[in-house]
Amino acid sequence: MEFQQYVSIIGAGPAGFALAADLLSHGKSVLLYSHPTHLRHANSVRETGCLKACGVMEGFANIPITTDMAEVIAFSQVIFLTVPSTGQDTILQEMKAYDLSQHILIAVPGNLLSLIKDAGMEVGNILETNLSPYSCRMDEGQLLVLGRKKRIMIAALRNYDLNPGFYDAVQDLFPGVRLRWCSSAVEVCLSNINGVFHPLMMLMNAGRIESTGGDFLLYSDGLTPAVANAMLGVDKVRMDIGAALGLCLQSTIEVSNECYDQSFTSLVTLAQKSPPHNRLKAPSDFGNRNISEDVPDLLVPWCGLAEVLGIDASPVAAVIVLAEMTTGRVSWRRVGICEGYTWIRSRGES
Ligand SMILES: NC(=O)c1ccc[n+]([C@@H]2O[C@H](COP(=O)([O-])OP(=O)(O)OC[C@H]3O[C@@H](n4cnc5c(N)ncnc54)[C@H](OP(=O)(O)O)[C@@H]3O)[C@@H](O)[C@H]2O)c1
Repeated sequence: MEFQQYVSIIGAGPAGFALAADLLSHGKSVLLYSHPTHLRHANSVRETGCLKACGVMEGFANIPITTDMAEVIAFSQVIFLTVPSTGQDTILQEMKAYDLSQHILIAVPGNLLSLIKDAGMEVGNILETNLSPYSCRMDEGQLLVLGRKKRIMIAALRNYDLNPGFYDAVQDLFPGVRLRWCSSAVEVCLSNINGVFHPLMMLMNAGRIESTGGDFLLYSDGLTPAVANAMLGVDKVRMDIGAALGLCLQSTIEVSNECYDQSFTSLVTLAQKSPPHNRLKAPSDFGNRNISEDVPDLLVPWCGLAEVLGIDASPVAAVIVLAEMTTGRVSWRRVGICEGYTWIRSRGES
């Protein structure tokens, strides 16, 4: 299989730039797409002349950047999506005009892209991961990579005719990360532990975020024992859903430990001592994807699945309701219940 030599990456944020720089340094040819209305980071890098990376990835990289979707699709058979899942619809609308029947989309993270949004598009295959391989931030064209995961999870929408060469070729696209292949995008989505960490850390520190403009460390200052207790409630619902679906999900701390080859026994200790987490600054306000992505695209489908499966979803529902009240949104939960029904029904029919 040779499809992995040329790689397009859609999404010019920290995760997309980190992946592009990493793949370039491993001998791949890379093209990075920035949506024309989301050029913030792409413009900074263009002004600087090249990407400067520091932290666990060091050096300079000349990354070709385009805003032309036709170029992206012609450039490679493999297309990574590194936009937040809230941006997937915008990108898919742009892609609809093209023949993607020979392409492989890899959504990093997927957050159920293939189950919810495949309709109406013929794509060769869609792969989804649970997390980004990098913990990273970007400022004025400079990329700070705080951590690189050792292990992430992945699933393919169409996995019935895949051969060992396919798995090896996909593995080759994730330098330094070992992929764990899961049974479905639902298992992968349930393993995106950002749904456990992010919304509660934001909501339980809301006053502090707004009064300081985010001038504190999100994990080491914000993940205290009371916050951790609330997270364990959400984590139990997530794992109960997995058990009801016959999946053996790991707890959030187990997933995180495996990601970074760590061995923490509590969320609070992880928040204090884990290098990829304990230096992360809090967001400055609530217009952040810790809420806008992780509530509608993780907690809402989890809640919908739990309710359809007859599992007590109240800890997850409580977080969604609080997020809705805090941000003034009113419809997230209803959408999730519909999605839960749709997925359970399609599972019964297949
Ligand atoms: N960075 C990390 O450490 C990390 C860790 C774990 C998981 N992830 C996940 O990886 C994904 C990418 O992360 P990131 O930090 O690179 O995200 P990001 O900076 O928030 O977004 C990536 C790029 O997508 C653009 N974008 C946002 N909404 C869009 C839309 N509706 N249409 C088109 N483009 C859009 C952004 O533009 P703007 O700058 O204009 O918003 C940015 O250029 C997210 O799902 C995130 O949750 C990231």
